Amino acid sequence: MRALSSLLVLAALPAVLAVKREDFKTCSQAAFCRRGRALAERAGQNPDWKSPYSVDPASISIASDQSTLTASVASSLYPEIKFGLDVRVHKDGVVRVRMDEVDGKGRRYNEAASWALLAEPETSKDIHWTVGKKDVKATIGPKKDKLEIFVSFDPLVVKLYRDGREEVALNGLGLLHMEHFRTKEEPQPAVEGGTEAEGAQTVMKVPNPRAWFEGEEEDGYWEETWKSWTDSKPKGPQSLSLDISFPNHGHVYGIPQHATRLSLPTTSGQDAFYDDPYRLWNSDVFEYLSDSTMSLYGSIPVMYGHSKESTVGIFNAIASDTFIDVAHPDDHSSYTHWISESGILDIFILPGPKPADVFKQYTGLTGTQAMPAHWALGYHQCRWNYVSSSDIRAVQQRFDEDDFPVDVFWLDIEYAEEHKYFIWDHKTFPDPVEMTNDVAAIGRKMVAIIDPHFKRVESYPVYKEARDLGIITKVKDGQTDYEGWCWSGSSAWVDFFNPASWGWWKGLFKTVQTSSDKFSWTESTNDVHIWNDMNEPAIFNGPEISMPRDNIHHGGWEHRDIHNLHGMLYHNITAQAVRDRTDPPMRPFVLTRSFYAGSQRFGAMWTGDNLGTWEHMTVGVKMVLSLNIAGFSFSGSDVGGFFGNPEPEMLVRWYYVGVFSPFFRAHAHIDTKRREPYLLAEPYKSIVRDALRLRYSMLPIWYTAFRESSVNGMPVLRPHFVVFPEDEAGFAIDDQFFVGGSGLLVKPVTEKGVTEANVYLAEEQVYYDYFSAHAYRGAVKGKNITVPATLDKVPLLIRGGSVLATRERPRRSSPLMKYDPFTLTVALSTAGAARGELYLDDGISYSHEAGAFVWREFVAATNSKTVRIESRDLAREKPGEAVDGVALATYDEGNAFARDIQAVRVEKLVVLGLAAKPSSVNLAGGKELDWEYTAGVAAGASKEGVASRLVVKNPGATVAADWEIIVQL
Ligand SMILES: *[C@@H]1O[C@H](CO)[C@@H](O)[C@H](O)[C@H]1NC(C)=O
Ligand SMILES: *[C@@H]1O[C@H](CO)[C@@H](O)[C@H](O)[C@H]1NC(C)=O
Repeated sequence: MRALSSLLVLAALPAVLAVKREDFKTCSQAAFCRRGRALAERAGQNPDWKSPYSVDPASISIASDQSTLTASVASSLYPEIKFGLDVRVHKDGVVRVRMDEVDGKGRRYNEAASWALLAEPETSKDIHWTVGKKDVKATIGPKKDKLEIFVSFDPLVVKLYRDGREEVALNGLGLLHMEHFRTKEEPQPAVEGGTEAEGAQTVMKVPNPRAWFEGEEEDGYWEETWKSWTDSKPKGPQSLSLDISFPNHGHVYGIPQHATRLSLPTTSGQDAFYDDPYRLWNSDVFEYLSDSTMSLYGSIPVMYGHSKESTVGIFNAIASDTFIDVAHPDDHSSYTHWISESGILDIFILPGPKPADVFKQYTGLTGTQAMPAHWALGYHQCRWNYVSSSDIRAVQQRFDEDDFPVDVFWLDIEYAEEHKYFIWDHKTFPDPVEMTNDVAAIGRKMVAIIDPHFKRVESYPVYKEARDLGIITKVKDGQTDYEGWCWSGSSAWVDFFNPASWGWWKGLFKTVQTSSDKFSWTESTNDVHIWNDMNEPAIFNGPEISMPRDNIHHGGWEHRDIHNLHGMLYHNITAQAVRDRTDPPMRPFVLTRSFYAGSQRFGAMWTGDNLGTWEHMTVGVKMVLSLNIAGFSFSGSDVGGFFGNPEPEMLVRWYYVGVFSPFFRAHAHIDTKRREPYLLAEPYKSIVRDALRLRYSMLPIWYTAFRESSVNGMPVLRPHFVVFPEDEAGFAIDDQFFVGGSGLLVKPVTEKGVTEANVYLAEEQVYYDYFSAHAYRGAVKGKNITVPATLDKVPLLIRGGSVLATRERPRRSSPLMKYDPFTLTVALSTAGAARGELYLDDGISYSHEAGAFVWREFVAATNSKTVRIESRDLAREKPGEAVDGVALATYDEGNAFARDIQAVRVEKLVVLGLAAKPSSVNLAGGKELDWEYTAGVAAGASKEGVASRLVVKNPGATVAADWEIIVQL
C-alpha cells in the first residue's frame, strides 16, 4: 500500500508529489558501497591489478564421495586471517561456492540460504576432480555436456565452462573482498590543524601498505551517521565485494525488484545508462520512480546471462544491503559487481544451458510458484478503503447488477480499530462474519490486511501476547523491545526469526477459539484470506523508512544481516497459518509486498504503490516479466495505479494489462476518486466488462500455466528470449510476452491515443488475431507486423500450432464456472499441426497432490486430406514423471475429481486455417457432426487475411475423456 503519508510525517514536512529520493541512500551515501565502488575504481585504473586472495594448494581436500572440494584461502594483505572455501556440485549440475572467515573475531551471517532454499540440495557423485599445480578442475555430469568448473589458486578465481567457452567467472576481475573481523584501534588525537570532525573520521595518517587495495581510510568502519540516524557497528566492517562476469553473454536479466527494463541497462562503464548501481534493500518507497535502479519492496538476488549460445545464472544468497553494478563493455559480454554490507559468500552457479534449464535449476533451489487457489486467478477488487460492511455489500451489488465478474473483495487498514489488525472497527463493520458470508454466497472471498506493526497498547491482545512471550524485535542492546512508528502509532515488530513466534502466530488465525486465554480470530471465517503489507518492514520514523540496522533478532543477528528476508518470513508463516486453520488444510491466498528468493512458495506479490501514469503502466509490465523469470510468477501491478485519478482511456488500457497479469487486482489510494468499473461511462464500461470476461474465459489457460510453473519452474509469463532463446532480435523485448505454454502472444497497449500496435514475430509461422482470426505471417529472421489496437482491442495473437481451452459463459464468479463446458480452438500451424494442454483440479484443496486432477493434451495432425484432432490423457501418457509429487505411473484416471467433472462437455470446437472446406466431420466411430465452415486463408498458405474457420457445435465429446474428431477435406 503506501508509505510516508502518515499524519506524523506530513505534519512535520511539506507534502511532495514525487519520490523523496533523499529518503533512500545512494551508493555514495552508504560507506560499504563507497568502499566497494572505490575498490573497483582502483582496479580499473591499475593495469597490474591482481586479487590478493589465493588458495593454499596444500589445503585442498576432496570429499570421498567427490561431491565437495574444500580449501583454505588467505589474502596476501592479511596472511594470518583464514577463510574457508567450499565448492560443491548438486545433482542437477548447480555449483555452490561458499567462502567464510574461519576462527575470526566474529561470526558472519550465514543463514540466508537456509531460509531461501526449499531443502538442502543433494550433491552429485558424477563429478571428477583433477588437482593441478595452478588450479583444480572438475568435469560435471556426462562428458558430452562438456561442463567444467575451474578453481584457480593464485589469485582465487572460479570459472564455469561449457563446450570450452567461459560462461561465468567469480573474481575474474579481482574485486573479491571479504572484510575480515578486526579490533578497533583506539583513535589517535586529531592531526594538527584538522577540525574535530575530520579527526573523528581519520583515525590514522601513517602510510598504509594495503591502500592500493583497501583505500587510504577506514571509511565508515565503526559507525555511520546518515541524516538523524547513527548506525552503531559493533562488529565493524564486514562487507563483501565480488565481481561476477558473463564474458560471453551480452544480456543480463533478473535481480528484481527495480522499475526498469527486463534486459538490465548499465550502471557503470562508459556511457552508463544509470549513475547508481541496482540496489537490493527492501524499502517502502513512496511514489517510486518509473525508471530507476532504486531499491523497491523486494529483492531476488538471481541474475541470468543470456546469449544465442546459452543461458546461465547465479543466485547470490545474501540478505543484507546489496548494490550491483552492471557493465557491457561490448554487445557480447556482461560484467557485474556485487557489493553487500554483510554475510558470507554463498553463490549458486546455474549452468543452464537454456532458459528452461536455469528456471528449473533456480526453482529447484528455492522452490516453484505455489499452486494458487483457482479463485485467486479471478479479478480482485480493492481500495483503501471500503469503509463499512454496507459499503462492501453495495459494491458487490453494483458488480452483480452491471454484470462484472469478480472473485474477491479486499479490506485495507481501515477495517481495523485504530489499525489493530484482527480487531474489527465495530462502528463501521458491526457484522464481519455475516458480511463475509454474504460475499461468499456465490463462492467469492474476502482478503483483509494484516500488517506486521502491532500497536503498543495493553488492551491489544496481539501485542500483549507477543510482548509476554518475549518475541518482539530488540534494539541494539539485545534486551529492550524496539519501538517505532507506523499506521498504528507507537508499534512493536514481532521477530519472526524466533521459532517461539511461529506456533503463536498460526494460532491467531484460527476461526474457532482454541484456547481460553489466547486470542484467535473468531470474528472471521475461512473465506477471509490475507494481505501482508508494510513487511519490509516499513517504519515511518526509522532510517530509510525501515528498522535500524543494529536492531537485534533471534540468534543475535543484526537487522542489517537479515533485512531482505524479513518480509518473506512473515509471508511464509502467515501462509502456513491460513493453510492450516482448517483440517484438511486448504490452499491459502496471501499477498505480500516484500519478498526474497523463495517467496514464490508462499503466494502472490504486487509491485507496490505505483502511480496512475502511462510510464508506471509501461514499467509495471516489465517488472512483472522480471519477477516471472525470477521464479515469482504470481505477480501483478495495481490496475489504475495506486496514486492519482486515471482518465478512462488509461483505466481501460490498465485493465487489459491486468487481464494479462498473473495476479489481477485493481487498487486505489484513499485520496483518489472511486473508480470501480461500473462507474465508467460508455463505451469504457462495456469495454472493461469485456476485458474481465476475457480473463474469466481464459482461466483454464492461466490455471494450466500455473500448474506447469508449480511443477517445473517455467514462468507463467514468458518474454521473447525464453521462447526463442536463439533469436537475438528478441533479447531486449519486454513489452510483449507469451502466456505460459499456451501460444497466446500479448502486447498490452500502455500509451495514450493508440489505434494500432507493432508486434514482433520471431519465426516463420502463422499467428492468428485472437478476435478476428486474421492470419499474420512471421519470417525466419523475425518480422514486425501492425495489428489493430483500438481501445476495445488488446493486441492478442494465437501462435500457429496451439490449442486453446476456454470457457465462454459469462459468470459472476469463477467458482460458478466449475461445471461449465469448454470451447477448444485449434489454431493450425503452417504444417497443419497443433497441440495444447489443459490442467484441472478442484482448485482449493491439496487433493491434487494425491492424484485428484485431470491433465489433458489436445493434438491436431494433418495427413493428406484428413485432419485428426485427438484428446489424450497426458497423465497416462507420461508415466514416471512427477506432478505435484504424484508419480504419474500410479495416476488413476477414475480419481474423484475426474469423476466429479466427467459430464463436462466440449460445447464448441473451432479449427482455424484448414486448407479447404471439409467434406465431413465425424467423432471417431460416430455419426456426422453439426458443423459450419467459413472460407478464408489456410494456415499453410503464404497470404495474410482472415483465416478459414470450421466451427463444430456440440461435438459430443467430454473434456476429461479420450476422443478423436476426424475432419475430411
Ligand atoms: C518457511 O517455509 C518452509 C516451507 O517452504 C518451512 O519449512 C519453514 O519452516 C518456514 N519457515 C518459517 C520461519 O516459517
Ligand atoms: C521491429 O521494430 C522494432 C521497434 O520499432 C525495431 O527495433 C526492430 O528492428 C524491428 N525488427 C524488424 C525485424 O524489423
